[in-house]
Amino acid sequence: MPHPRRRAIATLAALATVAALPPIVAAPPATAGTPAAYPDSRLPVRERVDDLLGRMTLEEKIGQMAQAERVAIDGDRDQITKLGLGSVLSGGGSVPASNTPKGWADMVDAYQSKALATRLKIPLLYGVDSVHGHNNLIGATIFPHNLAMGATRDPGLVREQQQITAMETRATGPQWAFAPCVCVVRDLRWGRTYESYGEEPGLVIQMETGIEGFQGRRKSDLARPRHVLATAKHFAGDGDTKFGSSTTGTFTIDQGVTVTDRRTFGKIDLAPYVPAVRKYGVGSIMPSFSSVDWTEDGVGNPVKMSASRELLTDVLKRKIGFGGFLISDWSAVHQIPGDYATQVRTAVNAGMDMFMEPHTAPRFVRTLLAEVDAGRVKTSRIDDAVRRILKAKFELGLFEHPYTDRRYAGTIGSPRHRAVARRAVAASQVLLKNSGRALPLERNEKIYVAGVSADDIGNQAGGWTVTWQGSSGDTIPGTTILDGIRQNSSHVSYSPDASAPMAGHDVGIVVIGERPYAEGAGDVGNGHTLNLSAADRANIDRVCGAIRTCVVLDVAGRPQIVTDRLPAMDALVMSWLPGSEGAGVADVLFGKRPFTGRLPVTWPRSEDQEPTNIGDRDYDPLFPYGHGLRTHARPRTR
Ligand code: BGC
Ligand code: BGC
Repeated sequence: MPHPRRRAIATLAALATVAALPPIVAAPPATAGTPAAYPDSRLPVRERVDDLLGRMTLEEKIGQMAQAERVAIDGDRDQITKLGLGSVLSGGGSVPASNTPKGWADMVDAYQSKALATRLKIPLLYGVDSVHGHNNLIGATIFPHNLAMGATRDPGLVREQQQITAMETRATGPQWAFAPCVCVVRDLRWGRTYESYGEEPGLVIQMETGIEGFQGRRKSDLARPRHVLATAKHFAGDGDTKFGSSTTGTFTIDQGVTVTDRRTFGKIDLAPYVPAVRKYGVGSIMPSFSSVDWTEDGVGNPVKMSASRELLTDVLKRKIGFGGFLISDWSAVHQIPGDYATQVRTAVNAGMDMFMEPHTAPRFVRTLLAEVDAGRVKTSRIDDAVRRILKAKFELGLFEHPYTDRRYAGTIGSPRHRAVARRAVAASQVLLKNSGRALPLERNEKIYVAGVSADDIGNQAGGWTVTWQGSSGDTIPGTTILDGIRQNSSHVSYSPDASAPMAGHDVGIVVIGERPYAEGAGDVGNGHTLNLSAADRANIDRVCGAIRTCVVLDVAGRPQIVTDRLPAMDALVMSWLPGSEGAGVADVLFGKRPFTGRLPVTWPRSEDQEPTNIGDRDYDPLFPYGHGLRTHARPRTR
């Protein structure tokens, strides 16, 4: 007679579809007879985890390690119960039919009820990319992207931002944010440049106050309805990959290879994870899609981060002391060499705890069960992974309050929250050039505005806004840059292509920039360039050639090449991707607030000067790291 559990596994492995999966009823372990202690909230988390783990079958444990995408389970929500899924996520743009706070909370609660229908009633963790506010939700407060926040050099502001983001996110259901990106961008050709706080690890570390904003100051804050579990991502070296090293689709640099030695990797790429873990106790970490290739081992042997036991277990968990759980990136384990069983085994044995398997969670569960059954993955590794996941669920208070506490839903997109975002926009503006004190402008000057991004909230919010890639147009409520200018002057003409007559204007404002993109889709060489578009160049030439004072605003996720047009401009401002509160740009243009922002990255003279970073030999950029002119706020006149 085979062991009953073995037989259950063999049956499970033979089943091809989830629909055919029987509910999990395998023989419960020894503790099953004694009264359960884990529901008792007075007990320490450690004891609750031990008690619960002791009651779980292997199938139930592996279910906890699986995360599915909501679209994949939406047709048959009972999969959550059948598989005993640990987590569900919304990928970028994966929103409920009614994209409102209520629509979100009802959706997450419906999934939750399916998790609570399992034998042990282990609640579900719901994760979402709140990377600049709760950005999938229409009506949320959308903050500037991280690179702009790096320009503020204001850790307190970043903490406040993430407190708001956490509150707006959790009030709609998700208790877990896949943020912040603590990536250190070393090459502006990377499509995720704007997700980084800057090129200096020290600057990224300063901005890790955001983790405290998400999670709260004390462990007990996590259980409050205005905090979420944070994720430091993408571990490690995601912003430091070599141009041309990506083998993924048409990407050139995203998901590529970091070619480096261990010492440099430690100083640049690993550095942010030390305080993220030790000082801020970040709850989860997402290993990167990228690979690392150690030059001291002889170049040419790249190892995927998801497969690196050295980095995930020896360095991150043992040496740095990470006690949270690792969540793999979107289908990332499928990029490990070998067949699927090898990929899963390699990642689990490297130290991966939860698997983001958007459309293949059932297959993941079957595969890992078979690997454990065959003795290729130890049960002690499974127990370690599940302990880490359960610990987070207990700390988040999910066993006591599994359903959405909606008490803060009324604060979503509130004037108070938007005011903080507007202040962040103003604080992030970097004044790169200001000849003859062109800025700040006088109120009521006659202003001519050109450029489509002057009045396009979609462009100004960038990628990861309502949809994964983001899009141009009227996508979210808020103010555009033009709205802000109009609040300060009653004589404003707007001509997107600078075709309207210019005579009689005192100031020309040309808004140049990029259209929205996300991830590798924004890599230079993959349909993108750092060079200005023909339309933007033409607008600069027309306006700066005709109007006395000419101010250029760059609305983009990264510096663009402006070298040959710079002499024609009186003032140049880097506006980044400000998000929903475009009026914050006008606050500094008109001197209501001072310009204080400083470059978080080096501004190159030409695209082929990339990569160039502070500290490089022969450093000769157009504007160095840290550059930013200051103005004084004008005393308020009535
Ligand atoms: C990205 C992650 C993100 C995940 C879930 C991946 O493609 O690399 O940053 O958290 O998708 O949307
Ligand atoms: C999802 C994103 C994810 C990406 C990964 C998209 O379909 O919406 O969240 O990051 O795929 O490739």
